[in-house]
Amino acid sequence: MSNYDIDYIKSKVSTVPDFPKKGIIFRDMFPVFRDPLAVEMLIGHMVHRLASTSKNKIDVVVGLDARGFLFGPLIALRLGAAFVPVRKSGKLCGDTFRVEYALEYGTDAFEIQKGAIQPGQNVVIVDDLIATGGSAFAAGELVVQAQANVNSFLFVMELVDLEGRDKLQAPVYSVLQY
Ligand code: PRP
Ligand code: ADE
Repeated sequence: MSNYDIDYIKSKVSTVPDFPKKGIIFRDMFPVFRDPLAVEMLIGHMVHRLASTSKNKIDVVVGLDARGFLFGPLIALRLGAAFVPVRKSGKLCGDTFRVEYALEYGTDAFEIQKGAIQPGQNVVIVDDLIATGGSAFAAGELVVQAQANVNSFLFVMELVDLEGRDKLQAPVYSVLQY
């Protein structure tokens, strides 16, 4: 993808100071979805990146609750892969794998349905944004609990100064850096 395309997608992300609380610079990617050309560029770029860097076929795209659900199924469809959601605690029916993860204050938990990912499958974890990396790391732990392979992590946006990528268990790629 050209620098023009990257700049075009970035121009659609809005920056909102002091949301949801003072001191946070919020990066809102919902405006990207108002522009089908920007969505096409973004999804095409992410799929191309995965296809050109993965030696083995991607079996499963895992998307994180909630904004990862916007990108994950589009990418999975183009790769001919399954889409599997990681949800926040208590939302999934049936037996689940579960992992607790740290928030700024306290902890929360992520879950994935048992049987949704088969042992040995090759999995990509997708989300809109990596900040501290705590959410993505927890999702990686769920894939490990399912005895599958974390092939890589893919984000639309990365808050570089927070160094979240250093926490993660596999290669990391982000389309936009802040
Ligand atoms: C946001 C974002 C990532 C996570 C990144 O989700 O969509 O999932 O934070 O932060 P981290 O790298 O520090 O873990 P949030 O938990 O706000 O949930 P939402 O998608 O439901 O808004
Ligand atoms: N999730 C965590 N930090 C965020 C930020 N600065 N903007 C949007 N989503 C976020």
